[in-house]
Amino acid sequence: MASLPGGALADDPLLAWRPRFPALERCVHLISHSLGCVPARTEEDLAEYYDLWATRSITAWDEWIPEIGRAAARLERILSAPAGSVTMLQNVSTAMAVLASCFDYRERPRVVYESLMFPTVSYVWKAEERRGAEVVVVPCPDGKTVDADAICAAIDERTIAVPIQHVVFGTAFIQDVKKIAARAREVGAHVILDCYQSVGIIPLDVVDLGVSFACGGSVKYLCGGPGAGWLYVRPDLIDQFEPRVTGWFANAHPFAFTMPAQTYADTVWRYLAGTPAIAALYQARAGHEIIGEIGVARIRDKSLALTAHAIAWVDELGFTLNSPREAARRGGSVVFDFVGAADVCRELNRRRFFCDHRPGVGIRIAPHFYSKGEELDLFFAEVKAIRG
Ligand SMILES: Cc1ncc(COP(=O)(O)O)c(C=O)c1O
Repeated sequence: MASLPGGALADDPLLAWRPRFPALERCVHLISHSLGCVPARTEEDLAEYYDLWATRSITAWDEWIPEIGRAAARLERILSAPAGSVTMLQNVSTAMAVLASCFDYRERPRVVYESLMFPTVSYVWKAEERRGAEVVVVPCPDGKTVDADAICAAIDERTIAVPIQHVVFGTAFIQDVKKIAARAREVGAHVILDCYQSVGIIPLDVVDLGVSFACGGSVKYLCGGPGAGWLYVRPDLIDQFEPRVTGWFANAHPFAFTMPAQTYADTVWRYLAGTPAIAALYQARAGHEIIGEIGVARIRDKSLALTAHAIAWVDELGFTLNSPREAARRGGSVVFDFVGAADVCRELNRRRFFCDHRPGVGIRIAPHFYSKGEELDLFFAEVKAIRG
């Protein structure tokens, strides 16, 4: 097999981070698009959360509440978002539901997104049809890529929301977000960008992308585990909406316990609902900090070199490549298919070569900043061995 493209990874400084992820020594972890590897420090961060609870009783909240802002600030750095524009929610579905509850569909009923959408997001918006929304799912005939012109053509003066993915989850195709956001702004619609498959692996600048809202979680490339989802709201929009999905943490003065109606906070906290999942924020801290410290631009360079190497293997073995070949359109995963791929994937996982399989597109693998080029060689050798 050819050496790594350009020999770029022969002397890879990012491998210095590997010992901070001891679980990597017990497997070949090529599944960071689905579950990032746990940092060793997460154990200490969770112990800190526990100790606060065990030693300080109710006054633990004096530390726990500021952790919401600290987690949001870590995300703001990764998203190049202005201070005070991000808040934490449990997951993308919740963030979408909070945003959906902001809209009134009487004048503008249309909600536009791609047919390759991650299903959870579609479930939230389809449920809005009960409140008068008209969902327009734009077909993606090749099952792999999204035609930005087709999305733009579906956005008109009756469109309120365009909740699209930055990187398509099944095929790692990077959408032309700027083009779609420009069209949406032209007609007064709001792009809500699901960045789950880009945050931590592709440099993000939510302001430059021109979107109204962005959301994601920490489970994947951020190595932060479940429960630490996040929502970015463009600062000038923060006080423009009053989410129906709400709660006392969205109140201007939660501890005044006013009744019966909500008085919304005028900060991004107005998009919080009830008590946030504090333990998840401690759990996500090490991952967020490590990604912030390395810098996503360096992670992206390495990811492109490693995914190019994986594509070379896919070609050599004669598999069908279902993720983009072109670097500018390629997210963090390489997706490939062959007859019997689902069974081979199951066996790979049993042998602790972690990857996943998605119907219609095949096996997905995603190296990350802590991956070694040789791990890809071991992985494809294992695929070959299983196939016989
Ligand atoms: C693009 C994308 N959106 C959303 C999700 C998950 O949504 P939630 O955070 O609601 O579980 C995933 C994967 O789990 C995803 O890949």
